[in-house]
Amino acid sequence: MSIFLDCEKEGHILRVTLNRPDRRNALSTPICERLLALPAEIEADIDIRCVIITGAGTAFCAGADLKERKELDEAARWRYVELVDRALLDIEKFPVPVIAAVNGHALGGGTELALGCDFRLAVKDADFGLTETGIGIIPTGSIVRLLRDGHDALNSLLTYTAARFSAARMADMGFLHQVVGTHRELEDLARALADRIAQNAPLALRAAKKVKQMLAADRTGDALHRAETVRRSLDSTADCLEGLTAFAEKRPPVFIGK
Ligand code: COA
Repeated sequence: MSIFLDCEKEGHILRVTLNRPDRRNALSTPICERLLALPAEIEADIDIRCVIITGAGTAFCAGADLKERKELDEAARWRYVELVDRALLDIEKFPVPVIAAVNGHALGGGTELALGCDFRLAVKDADFGLTETGIGIIPTGSIVRLLRDGHDALNSLLTYTAARFSAARMADMGFLHQVVGTHRELEDLARALADRIAQNAPLALRAAKKVKQMLAADRTGDALHRAETVRRSLDSTADCLEGLTAFAEKRPPVFIGK
């Protein structure tokens, strides 16, 4: 167990809880490092047949830690960005089905975290959004995966507006499997789905997931790498620094295109 990410095994289900509610479960370095270690740990434990990812408090995940990022120099900031990107992309490397139980705000990397899961369930009060262009960067992993998976309309709406959308709207647009009214119902629904999955043969579940991963890798090709190169040019722009400063100062950013 590591600080900010709780992992609890219940029968054949691994329950992973982002537990940093005072920062709305923003992706700190320790959270990312712990997430990155999980695929190998699950691979080695055939007893685990399904994973549920959820958040503590009012947020599922508020994305990258904008405060941590603001304090870093350029080289350290890029290392942090790469760490977050890798942690979010590697959610797809979990060797068993993963259920996102979205209990609240899922913004920026929070929406991407849900996107990397096999099932997306949400409480009706949850909201979603790719807010990155609003702080001067782009949601590289989400763009590539949304386009890869045929969600062009969703990508345009989320990426270019950087706005926040309700769970009901996200369900209408095909992003969510199911929306429920309360946190209790969300927990029960995720648990029932996980229990149903866990009745099945462990090797078959892992084989089915591997086939999905192979096809996803074929369709992604080197697009991620090329998108990262595009993204990298943004990280030290005046607009990106302004986006981070404006967030810390709780005011709207003033962008100048530099
Ligand atoms: N990184 C770092 N700190 C964050 C954070 C993030 N992504 N999201 C929230 N926090 C911090 C806030 O700065 C605040 O800190 P403070 O108490 O020291 O002021 C604390 O968490 C609570 O956030 P607050 O905005 O007061 O809570 P809220 O419940 O009113 O709103 C959100 C929650 C998630 C809607 C709002 O915090 C938000 O919009 N966060 C940014 C999300 C985002 O755009 N992420 C994408 C990054 S690329």
